[in-house]
Amino acid sequence: MTQRSSPAAGLSELLETRRVILVVGVGGVGKTTTTAALGLAAARRGKRVLCLTIDPARRLAQSLGIEEMKTEAQTIDPALFEAAGVPVRGSMTVMMLDTKGTFDGLIAQLSPTPEKREQILNNVLYKYISTSLAGTQEYMAMEKLYAVKGDPSYDIVLLDTPPTPNALEFLDAPERLVGAIDSAATRWMVQAVQSSGKFSLNVLAKSAAAIVRGIGKVSGSGFLEQMAGFIGEINAVFGGWKKRADEVSAALRGPDVAYVLVTTPDPLAVREVMFFADRLREQQMRRDAFVVNRVHPSYGQLPGAGEVEEAVARSGLGLGPDAAGRLRRAAEDESRLGRMDALHLMGLEAALEDEATGGSLLAHVPAFPFDIHDLSRLAKIAEVLAPG
Ligand SMILES: Nc1ncnc2c1ncn2[C@@H]1O[C@H](COP(=O)(O)OP(=O)(O)OP(=O)(O)O)[C@@H](O)[C@H]1O
Ligand SMILES: [Mg+2]
Repeated sequence: MTQRSSPAAGLSELLETRRVILVVGVGGVGKTTTTAALGLAAARRGKRVLCLTIDPARRLAQSLGIEEMKTEAQTIDPALFEAAGVPVRGSMTVMMLDTKGTFDGLIAQLSPTPEKREQILNNVLYKYISTSLAGTQEYMAMEKLYAVKGDPSYDIVLLDTPPTPNALEFLDAPERLVGAIDSAATRWMVQAVQSSGKFSLNVLAKSAAAIVRGIGKVSGSGFLEQMAGFIGEINAVFGGWKKRADEVSAALRGPDVAYVLVTTPDPLAVREVMFFADRLREQQMRRDAFVVNRVHPSYGQLPGAGEVEEAVARSGLGLGPDAAGRLRRAAEDESRLGRMDALHLMGLEAALEDEATGGSLLAHVPAFPFDIHDLSRLAKIAEVLAPG
């Protein structure tokens, strides 16, 4: 039995039933736009909304009438929504994720003593891990989400996830990051340091390559010493950290969390989103909703050349020579794109019809002939995503 709603019914149900919504998808498909539009839809329904973005999202800031995204919470002036003709009954707050700040906060929370905390925060390797290690941004996004999930000032929290080349990396981030630091090689190294009391470069040289591969490349002098220091120090917070990462992972698999999978009709994006959906199923997680963004309309029969010519003449717009021909060609192009999109989406639609993926919601958002850079345009998308 499939309980899937039609694309027209949209994702409204999620806004009523969930506390956390993660918007995932590959780069450029419209995650930020979807996050903001869902947030707006929720705020219009009376919810106090927090939208977390991972980048400065300049266009979104512009849409929301603020100068720039900040790592502090900014609540959008209700007058702006009024002025744009989209009054909200709730509120909309936006915040940009601060990867390093979140990580520093976590270390501070987990360190047994202020001295340990300072040692870790000042270690070169920590600086690298907290800013540049692959997966850190993803993990810290999850961490922040976990932290604000319990904040009573918000009814619903939406996260615009980082555009990972592979959306799965996001889901696995907590385990992967902990795994990178807890790899067999690093554990071995801690033992080596602990048993001898100091570093034996000879013994270490053998496993150094493996360690460098695991933690990423760090250049500069004193790498091994820095590494040894870091591992000794991080060990003090490691038990707590691992537990925390497990908690974060578990919380973000809970029933009050929804995943919204965004794609475009592009075959590569569709393939990626279906792969991700399979992964969610493997992990016994629900695939709550799919958004297909930038869909071209499927026209039926286009009007004949004569009809278009008559309409152009009637319009009195003075469209110039061959206006009817140009209009018709544009309509044909558009129609062709619509047919292509429908073709590319067949696999996804079939998968959604399938019993195994039943229960997912679906929305199709049209490809608008303009960028989404003001509130009224964002509201148009909000209305498609969550009508009513
Ligand atoms: N349905 C649409 N019609 C027209 N323009 C759109 C639509 N959806 C998004 N856009 C525009 O496409 C651009 C990319 O969208 P957006 O920034 O939301 O993508 P993203 O997935 O967050 O990208 P990134 O992975 O780079 O963060 C933006 O300029 C946005 O205004
Ligand atoms: Mg984005």
